[in-house]
Amino acid sequence: MLRTAVIGCGYWGPNLIRNFMACRQTTVTWVCDQDAARLEAALRPFPSVRKTTSLDELLAAEDIDAVAIATPVATHYPLAKAALEKGKHVLLEKPLAASIAQGSELVELAAKKDLRLMCDHTFCYTGAVRKIKQIIDAGELGEILYFDSIRINLGLFQNDVNVIWDLATHDLAIVDFLFPEKPIQVSAHGLAHAGNSIENIAYVTLTYPSNFIAHFHVNWLSPVKIRKTLIGGSKKMIEWNDLVPAEKIKVYDKGIELNPMEQDEKSRLMVSYRSGDIHSPQIDSTEALLLVAKEFADCITENRPPLTDGHSALRVLRVLEAAERSIKSGGANVRIEYP
Ligand SMILES: NC(=O)c1ccc[n+]([C@@H]2O[C@H](COP(=O)([O-])OP(=O)(O)OC[C@H]3O[C@@H](n4cnc5c(N)ncnc54)[C@H](O)[C@@H]3O)[C@@H](O)[C@H]2O)c1
Repeated sequence: MLRTAVIGCGYWGPNLIRNFMACRQTTVTWVCDQDAARLEAALRPFPSVRKTTSLDELLAAEDIDAVAIATPVATHYPLAKAALEKGKHVLLEKPLAASIAQGSELVELAAKKDLRLMCDHTFCYTGAVRKIKQIIDAGELGEILYFDSIRINLGLFQNDVNVIWDLATHDLAIVDFLFPEKPIQVSAHGLAHAGNSIENIAYVTLTYPSNFIAHFHVNWLSPVKIRKTLIGGSKKMIEWNDLVPAEKIKVYDKGIELNPMEQDEKSRLMVSYRSGDIHSPQIDSTEALLLVAKEFADCITENRPPLTDGHSALRVLRVLEAAERSIKSGGANVRIEYP
């Protein structure tokens, strides 16, 4: 039984508490929040869990093996560092940290201390994304040509991170999880409409070494909520609508056929269209955070890196930082640097 402490019980933290309590391999022994009223409210359903507003008291407790951190992004690094230095395994909310430098330091510290560092890239644990990965890995889509997602709603305007760090992080984690190829360049456009410099709408395009392209549209200022992704392949294509209760994923046997054997150039360049069946595979409806809790416990017991480890979270940070530079330079292509 992994004895976990949760730090931060605002919007997301209570979901971690509920799932770490529900998971058979984990329990929550302590919860910490600077705000005593939030702490009180979050622990009402779990009166046996100990609570504190002091990080020092939490980290001094004997009955903690691991810490899950759900606080604002700027606090991820100092809190995770303190926990790792005290010998605790760490699960960090997305994004891993506020910069590549901070994220790298956490990855190195965890390795040095032989502790597990995991990032809650929740979508990688959803039934939908796991099914999409299965379909892609089985080669059903053929060559993957593009990934195009829309993640918009009248969202909470964050005051510490822009919409890319808040929402596109999900899509960056998903493409990192689905495709072995890593992006080499990013171009992003975005604007701030709330009287500050924090962009609330952005269009992000990733370039890859192959013929694959990924594009994300994220927006906190949309009158409607849309969570839709298209994945184009040379054989089949996927439509994923995360907001519908059933048939979230549809696989279309649609595409084009080229005519390389034709004699004259004009005929060779003509495409013919293929329009076959559409099917909607069954997907597992287990709550993603329950699988996050299980993976965190399993990677510790089995002494192996978690599915969404520090390195994958660091790759996401590399794209986020490059995208931010691109926005500030009016959408210029910015190279994504890997060590
Ligand atoms: N995985 C997901 O799908 C998902 C969804 C929402 C939020 N998040 C992430 O969760 C994190 C928290 O987001 P939120 O929306 O819950 O924020 P929030 O502002 O609602 O809650 C943050 C809580 O942390 C507490 N806190 C801040 N600094 C602290 C400190 N030093 N010590 C102890 N407590 C502290 C605050 O008092 C507050 O209660 C962010 O990193 C966010 O990106 C992830």
